[in-house]
Amino acid sequence: MGDEISLFFFLSLLLLVFSSKTCLCSAAADTISAGQSLTGNQTIVSKGGDFELGFFTPGKSLKHYLGIWFKETHVQNEAVVWVANRDQPIINMSSSELKLLENGNLVILNKSKIPIWSTNSTSTTSKSFELVLGDDGNLVLRDGLNPSVIIWQSFDHPTDTWLPGAKMRYDNRTKKAQKLISWKNSEDPSPGLFSLELKPDIEFVLTWNGSQQYWTSGAWDGESFSQVPEMKTRMFYNYSFVSNENETYLRYYFYVKNVRSRFMIALSGQIKQYMWIEATKEWSQFWSKPIKACDVYRYCGPFSRCNVEDSSCQCLQGFKEQSLEDRNLGDLSGGCVRKTPYNAEQKTISFRCST
Ligand SMILES: *[C@@H]1O[C@H](CO)[C@@H](O)[C@H](O)[C@H]1NC(C)=O
Ligand SMILES: *[C@@H]1O[C@H](CO)[C@@H](O)[C@H](O)[C@H]1NC(C)=O
Ligand SMILES: *[C@@H]1O[C@H](CO)[C@@H](O)[C@H](O)[C@H]1NC(C)=O
Ligand SMILES: *[C@@H]1O[C@H](CO)[C@@H](O)[C@H](O)[C@H]1NC(C)=O
Ligand SMILES: *[C@@H]1O[C@H](CO)[C@@H](O)[C@H](O)[C@H]1NC(C)=O
Ligand SMILES: *[C@@H]1O[C@H](CO)[C@@H](O)[C@H](O)[C@H]1NC(C)=O
Ligand SMILES: *[C@@H]1O[C@H](CO)[C@@H](O)[C@H](O)[C@H]1NC(C)=O
Ligand SMILES: *[C@@H]1O[C@H](CO)[C@@H](O)[C@H](O)[C@H]1NC(C)=O
Repeated sequence: MGDEISLFFFLSLLLLVFSSKTCLCSAAADTISAGQSLTGNQTIVSKGGDFELGFFTPGKSLKHYLGIWFKETHVQNEAVVWVANRDQPIINMSSSELKLLENGNLVILNKSKIPIWSTNSTSTTSKSFELVLGDDGNLVLRDGLNPSVIIWQSFDHPTDTWLPGAKMRYDNRTKKAQKLISWKNSEDPSPGLFSLELKPDIEFVLTWNGSQQYWTSGAWDGESFSQVPEMKTRMFYNYSFVSNENETYLRYYFYVKNVRSRFMIALSGQIKQYMWIEATKEWSQFWSKPIKACDVYRYCGPFSRCNVEDSSCQCLQGFKEQSLEDRNLGDLSGGCVRKTPYNAEQKTISFRCST
């Protein structure tokens, strides 16, 4: 564990040196007012230029989504930090729009002007509304006359990414946790099999398909979680932890402001922390749990073996990949199937064994 911590220090220091960014301060709007909308490739950009909100199409997908991404990091898919309609994709982009209605509700309308996604926000007291994309990556729907009144914010509805300043939260009134859920595959942001949540007894857990727990942070001792001792150093991050009768949450911040960083639950089922390295123009992973993908429950799917050396998955003898296409998109959950053809009766039996 000692070695792990010094490696963590070393890497962190190295990354910090190479990750400083310059101001991208942009002239683009960061706000949408009531009655206005975004269509097609129109976007809004946060004041400092870091984040952008708009419609995107992941990879070769035929489906379209509204999302927030790091503007200057060109591998767009990797840098998407939030997806509004992950469950309700837009099939035909033409004439679809994001609109802030006069009543303060933010909606995505399809070509037939039918809302396919909505914030469901209502305010009986506010009369003016605006939508602002902040430099922290938070999309905030607020009272235009009294900006401290927040009606809805994307930080309360995370997808797979936890940004600095956002809460990872357990709501003690609704008894619900705000979960990070992995994408299904690299071209499909709909909910995948892996999720991270904060339990009411103050412990983070990773869960497969909503049932099988495969990693825990251990208990919180006031300074760190027992399985994450490197938190204690607080060298680059500052944490704030709050627990009261309404909610329990953890937030983290960077001491150094000009660092791009994201914490996310990856397709592999691991939680990972990345930093943007300006010098090499790439996202660099410098922390993950479980450290080895092979320790993720069902990482390789059925009839497949995980190679600890390089985290690759190999079909058991006599089996072949269930779907090479899924595998190429980073979804390994299908695992492997028998190579030799079976008659119908035997097929049923082998299917039952694999589930
Ligand atoms: C946005 O789309 C329009 C029309 O499809 C096109 O002319 C324009 O170049 C696009 N702008 C960007 C920045 O891609
Ligand atoms: C999308 O809508 C446009 C405009 O009505 C239409 O021309 C096009 O065929 C539609 N595309 C699909 C894939 O349905
Ligand atoms: C818009 O959404 C509604 C409800 O889901 C659906 O019935 C309709 O076909 C959609 N229209 C288009 C053009 O996609
Ligand atoms: C809005 O309400 C609908 C219907 O209750 C629900 O399906 C949808 O998830 C809600 N949207 C959000 C962003 O919570
Ligand atoms: C996940 O759980 C659901 C039931 O909650 C089940 O129908 C589904 O088959 C499970 N997925 C996998 C890959 O086992
Ligand atoms: C760390 O976070 C706490 C709580 O948000 C804050 O009060 C404190 O000033 C922060 N310390 C530093 C050095 O940023
Ligand atoms: C959460 O709420 C319950 C009542 O619903 C209360 O008994 C419990 O003490 C609360 N938890 C915290 C951490 O305050
Ligand atoms: C808990 O929520 C209630 C109702 O919104 C509020 O009055 C109270 O101040 C909250 N408690 C804390 C500790 O924030």
